[in-house]
Amino acid sequence: MPITIINKPNIRARKMQFDFKDINTANFWGGNSIVSSFFAVMSATFPPGEKEFIESVRLFKDRISNAELQKEIKEFIGQEGQHSFQHRQLNYAFDEQGWNTPKIEAKLRDKISWLNKYLSAESRLARTVSFEHITAIMSEFFLSNQDVLNDLPESLKSLFLWHTVEEIEHKSVAFDVYQTLVDDRNHLRLHMALVTIDFSLTMLYYQVMTHILARSLPSGRDVKGAWTFFFGVKGMIRNMRKPYLDFYRKDFHPWDVDNSELIAAWKASKYADFEINKTQYECFENDNNEQIAVVS
Ligand SMILES: [Fe+2]
Ligand SMILES: [Fe+2]
Repeated sequence: MPITIINKPNIRARKMQFDFKDINTANFWGGNSIVSSFFAVMSATFPPGEKEFIESVRLFKDRISNAELQKEIKEFIGQEGQHSFQHRQLNYAFDEQGWNTPKIEAKLRDKISWLNKYLSAESRLARTVSFEHITAIMSEFFLSNQDVLNDLPESLKSLFLWHTVEEIEHKSVAFDVYQTLVDDRNHLRLHMALVTIDFSLTMLYYQVMTHILARSLPSGRDVKGAWTFFFGVKGMIRNMRKPYLDFYRKDFHPWDVDNSELIAAWKASKYADFEINKTQYECFENDNNEQIAVVS
């Protein structure tokens, strides 16, 4: 199925530099241990998760003849590779605060390897498309409600804004690959439903596990604050509900919602200044799943 979308922003893999030394407390998210562990766990899922996003798209890359989509795939891979690299560094900082993030990374890596023994290439791609939609609408929520990021350490806020901007930039790449080569909406919807259940239960399990390992028992105040953060009137999950359901429409496309103004606002802000000279270093993952940075 040909994909013709207008007004898409250019995708560009940026190399950023953050210093996470200002993360000096476990409850870095407004003092709330539940919201903090949620984002520590989410960060832990990025290195193995985004590696799988890259690999699942690579399985189809050679069959894409559209030159523009080929270029977008290249930048998508570059962006996700950078996200993975930066979150690996962040996960070390979270680990120092007791959140056991490298352990969660390793567990998820094993789970993905196990799952991939049973999933077809089409199903792996459908899962990636589904996760990309979830990350895009979460990114839209944060970029549109930046007041919820005000209490974060500056390095974390900077990484968060950069990652969310790039998730919006490349939000249609996996979808367009899927529609071009697979084009099965029922299969896609089924995987979105499965991914939603899988992601929710996995996050909950890892979060409980990391609280137990960190010997951190949430207080009543933490529970109340977390409920407001996720499900309150301005809550993250409550506000993601409608854009999430849009995915199930038969004519859905990620750029039905043009939120390129959020990208433009970030580019004009001080947070875009964390980009470093493009030739400063390259990063890749070796056979032992270690992120390697090479100064070039
Ligand atoms: Fe990403
Ligand atoms: Fe992504």
